[in-house]
Amino acid sequence: MATDLRDQLQASLGDAYRLDRELGGGGMSRVFVAQEGALDRRVVVKVLPPELTGTLSIERFRREIQLAARVHHPHIVPVLLVGQADGLLYYTMPYIEGESLRERLEREGRLPIDDVIRIMRDVADALSHAHALGVIHRDVKPDNILLVRHHALVTDFGVAKALRQSRQPEERRTHGRTPSHGMALGTPAYMAPEQAAADPTIDHRADIYALGCVAYEMLTGKPPFSGRPAQKILAAQVAERPAPISKERPDVSRALEAIVMRCLEKNPAQRWGDTDDLTDELNTLMAHSISLARTGGQPVIPRRVRSRRAVVAYLGSSIVVAAGARLVRDMFGLPDWVPTGAVLIMALGLPIVLFTAFLHSSAPTGGPFRLRARRILTWRTTALGVWVAIGLFALAVAIYAIASKG
Ligand SMILES: Nc1ncnc2c1ncn2[C@@H]1O[C@H](COP(=O)(O)OP(=O)(O)OP(=O)(O)O)[C@@H](O)[C@H]1O
Ligand SMILES: [Mg+2]
Repeated sequence: MATDLRDQLQASLGDAYRLDRELGGGGMSRVFVAQEGALDRRVVVKVLPPELTGTLSIERFRREIQLAARVHHPHIVPVLLVGQADGLLYYTMPYIEGESLRERLEREGRLPIDDVIRIMRDVADALSHAHALGVIHRDVKPDNILLVRHHALVTDFGVAKALRQSRQPEERRTHGRTPSHGMALGTPAYMAPEQAAADPTIDHRADIYALGCVAYEMLTGKPPFSGRPAQKILAAQVAERPAPISKERPDVSRALEAIVMRCLEKNPAQRWGDTDDLTDELNTLMAHSISLARTGGQPVIPRRVRSRRAVVAYLGSSIVVAAGARLVRDMFGLPDWVPTGAVLIMALGLPIVLFTAFLHSSAPTGGPFRLRARRILTWRTTALGVWVAIGLFALAVAIYAIASKG
């Protein structure tokens, strides 16, 4: 039977492609490396076996694959063509020289932190682009991430949806949405709670959850709920909290752990709302880890968290300044304008601190105004401004105190 399919496919493809070795794959398809005659290049031909093709609506499958094929991105393996011949449904893509993330994980177990951030960033970037075009992957997993030197590419975009959409109504009724059917409806270990619960309205945030599971596996060596039967994994995806990453991997920074755990929130609304934000945070982490690698490194704090902390620190300092001013008034018998003035100065500084936080809470993107404002209003200039204002006020109070005594 195995060779039958291969021979049948070769006969259907004719001289255009010469089938070479078969790549081991998942349950739903067979994957062959092939030589494309016209362009003298290696491609991968993915073919759906006739027993599956029989139950599919070819047109709907084709439409879904066509939609996915519109997504062009450096971190997405493109679809070259989708074809159908003698009852076989196939599509081709470039052969990616490298290995899958699955292979690398099998070889190394856990990956170095910098590699985890880089792979996660590439995948988030690819997802972000596809999501913006309305394409959801629905089956993000290490087998669908291919590694080429320092880059990660996502493959099988839209295939899960294509298979699901293209199943004839009768077939859909028979098989329901049980993922254990073996079709690419998602893979339990990487499936978002809403996907596991067969919610028909899942959106791009299911991909963000799956990426969280992949990141968790890259860091700890296994996905969040491993070593259980599929049904138990699905139940855990819906109801259980994953064990903290730092328990398994103490060298992970709090910032990276927070990023991954936010992907893994049960409620989609509490995940990263937008893959762009996630990509920004990972870019920041990457930039920090590059610069910190030279200095031996402190834990990396994402921009948004840093901005929030700066605002909280400012509010805390305002209370201290106000209390200090009252104390000075009482100790030296100064007038009431001393504490009032101190509160006023801190209150006037608050909008500037908030604006600085707004400017610096994400990666350096945005219009020319925001970029220029970022250059002028840095945290350093804001802090300097606040200190100068407090210093001048303190000087004025001191001069007043001396003058009124004299
Ligand atoms: N374009 C490609 N270039 C090089 N290798 C590929 C390419 N596409 C797939 N592969 C390899 O072939 C293997 C099988 O791919 P396939 O998509 O059939 O299986 P899978 O991802 O494990 O399961 P699923 O059928 O659920 O997607 C992958 O793990 C990968 O190593
Ligand atoms: Mg695949």
